[in-house]
Amino acid sequence: MKTLILYYSRTGITRKVAETIQEKMKCDLEEIIDLKNRKGPLGFIVSGKDSVMKKLTEIKQIQKNPSDYDLVILGTPVWASTMSCAMRTCLRQYRDKFRNIAFFCTTGGTGITNTFNHMEQECGKKPLATMGLKASLVKKGRFMEEVSQFIRKISGS
Ligand SMILES: Cc1cc2nc3c(=O)[nH]c(=O)nc-3n(C[C@H](O)[C@H](O)[C@H](O)COP(=O)(O)O)c2cc1C
Repeated sequence: MKTLILYYSRTGITRKVAETIQEKMKCDLEEIIDLKNRKGPLGFIVSGKDSVMKKLTEIKQIQKNPSDYDLVILGTPVWASTMSCAMRTCLRQYRDKFRNIAFFCTTGGTGITNTFNHMEQECGKKPLATMGLKASLVKKGRFMEEVSQFIRKISGS
């Protein structure tokens, strides 16, 4: 399956997972860029508020065309028990171009199920596979087995 990974990452944790999947699957990868400044402690507070209100944001136009792919893997950090604003915006803008989807998220520890439910609602279709990872384990590099399982599930579908 021709596969594209689209991910958003504010502090690099979700990026690490996205790059690991990309290495194993040898597929295309593109970062979703949020044009709103979300850096530092103020960025954290603003992002918390925006995500509670399920606000959309302005994102840079995606360079790759998702409709060229059999599968789009979508990765986001959990924000206030839901997806990041950049991921919500991406799904709203591009959902009609997704053939098959799979989701992953990184989190301090909570909100995984809720995040995937919201992503499924936004996409209007079910993911082939999902993977929720704790940021603390990603930092230590202890997530390879989960990634292998995720890829096996995608491939078996
Ligand atoms: C605005 C904001 C809200 C967050 N909300 C949650 C949350 O509800 N539950 C949780 O376990 N972690 C929460 N986190 C922690 C992130 O999900 C976690 O650190 C994630 O791995 C960061 O990924 P990134 O480095 O790719 O941005 C939040 C982080 C931010 C910035």
